[in-house]
Amino acid sequence: MAKTIGILTAGGDSPGLNAAIRAVGKSAQRRYEMHVIGFKDGFSGLIQNRHIRLDGDSLSGILSKGGTILGTSRVKVHKVDVGDGTRIDMRPMIQRVVEDHDLAALVCLGGGGTQKNALRLHKVGIPVVTLPKTIDNDVWGTDTTFGFDTAMSVATDAIDRLHSTAHSHHRIMIAEVMGHNTGWLTLGAGLAGGADAILLPELPFEVQAVADSILQRKAGGSNFSIVAVAEGAMSAADKAEHDDLRRQLDELDDDADDSELRERLNTFHVGRKHSTERLAEKLEELTGLEARVTILGHVQRGGTPSTADRLLATQLGTAATDAIADGVTGVMIASRNGEAVPVPLEEVAGNRKSVPLDHPWIESARRLGIAIGD
Ligand code: F6P
Repeated sequence: MAKTIGILTAGGDSPGLNAAIRAVGKSAQRRYEMHVIGFKDGFSGLIQNRHIRLDGDSLSGILSKGGTILGTSRVKVHKVDVGDGTRIDMRPMIQRVVEDHDLAALVCLGGGGTQKNALRLHKVGIPVVTLPKTIDNDVWGTDTTFGFDTAMSVATDAIDRLHSTAHSHHRIMIAEVMGHNTGWLTLGAGLAGGADAILLPELPFEVQAVADSILQRKAGGSNFSIVAVAEGAMSAADKAEHDDLRRQLDELDDDADDSELRERLNTFHVGRKHSTERLAEKLEELTGLEARVTILGHVQRGGTPSTADRLLATQLGTAATDAIADGVTGVMIASRNGEAVPVPLEEVAGNRKSVPLDHPWIESARRLGIAIGD
């Protein structure tokens, strides 16, 4: 068996990546006497064979560091833009790099895009093992992802802080929370931070319903409100327009010209920029209260990983090394009921774990009278 493991981090960074790199590296060396090399800047560094040795020294002192010591990038391995708009399938190049290093496996740490890339590599015979990392918690097949817990705490803290100023000024304070197309972060932080309205991509909202709930609070003597809105949340009208465009695209024959529909979808997404500011304007108009927007943005991705994220990354990282030593590849090491479990990449890639509408956190929000837009 080859004695070297390659490792890379891809997609948006998240707290816990270094803890996972450390866990893979240290357990590979201590338990299996394997070497570990890290590819720089995700799949782009892999393609260019930019790598560093990850030995004892380089793995020390990184457990509590945010970000990734390896750097990251967003690249699709089967169509890499080479500068002049031409897109090239880089898998043969990657295959050569993997063979040159005689890798037992390539460990890819990432979210949904990374799982898809890993499957593309697995399909051409490259031995890959992935770990689920993202603040969005939307990777299919795992109970949770590392990065999520830390980001949720950051967002909760921000919402906590908005309370006092909302109260002083009798305002509506809107916190826009990351999460891409899922609402895990917003739901968790909104509930933990005591938001009065929580708006998720999974539950298209009616602005009037949100305004009514704020007016009800006002009538009850609370003339401030906190709204936690996911960056991907949409009004029911926007969602209908979006889904209609997507449906038309899906129904097109493979060889049909989709440029007009793609253009319309693009215009739709561009139009959604600043949607939280527009929500604020609308709520001001409907309630007569002043509204302010705080976009939490990348603050949620930075900083020291929480204890839970370090533990998760460490458990999954050491389990990845065990799987490789056992000759198991083509899998993501998922967390299920506290156990590290290998799940075939075919099951994971291309699927998204959205918040189920009957999730206990949604039930609790409803029982507490939190407006969730419907
Ligand atoms: O996937 C993590 C994430 O932070 C999402 O929540 C967000 O939509 C996206 O990445 C932002 O990406 P970028 O860092 O490229 O702006």
